[in-house]
Amino acid sequence: MDGRVKPGHDESVYGIYVSAGSLAMSTLFAFLHHLCAFTLVGALAIEFALIRQELTLTSARRLQVTDLALGIAAGLLLMIGLSRVFLFEKGPAYYWHSHAFLLKFGLFILLAFVSIIPTMEFLSWRGAIKAGQVPVVAAKKLRRVTGIIHAELAAIVIILLCAAIMARGGWV
Ligand code: HEM
Repeated sequence: MDGRVKPGHDESVYGIYVSAGSLAMSTLFAFLHHLCAFTLVGALAIEFALIRQELTLTSARRLQVTDLALGIAAGLLLMIGLSRVFLFEKGPAYYWHSHAFLLKFGLFILLAFVSIIPTMEFLSWRGAIKAGQVPVVAAKKLRRVTGIIHAELAAIVIILLCAAIMARGGWV
């Protein structure tokens, strides 16, 4: 957001004057950011619930669809988050010097890489599902995928804490 005064259509945010246009964009991107973040967390929670049940054809299909939604939400979240960093909030200099942001961003990237393991597993079920069969998954593999989804949910809690800290200028 810029801090310039544009007479006639400016609004005050925390006592700083910003143009109505930049306020609207900041609000829109904040909304989209939350929408994608909630979708991502919701998808992860659904995956966690499904993977802990006995695998059926229906739950295997649902896991694939949910994982697709998760991937789309994560991709959009990354693009929207970076737009907020560079264009709509406190500026890149602020965020790249914030430890809370760096931890949040680092965890997000780590999650993105780790989530490749469950995604590859779900994709490998395509043949069996097409043939109308329940995918056969070794118990060890299933435990690993469940553990990863669990760890991702735990990491989200830390990401949320970092988000709240960085937004308020803490832990720089
Ligand atoms: C699972 C992933 C993520 C979750 C759950 C999440 C959650 C949040 C939440 C709840 C806020 C609002 C904080 C507050 O105002 O108290 C926020 C703000 C923000 N997030 Fe994220 N976020 C995620 C990923 C990202 C990524 C990947 C980026 C950047 C690449 C990013 C950049 C930002 C920025 C710039 C803000 C605005 C902070 C400010 O007001 O100064 N987020 N995030």
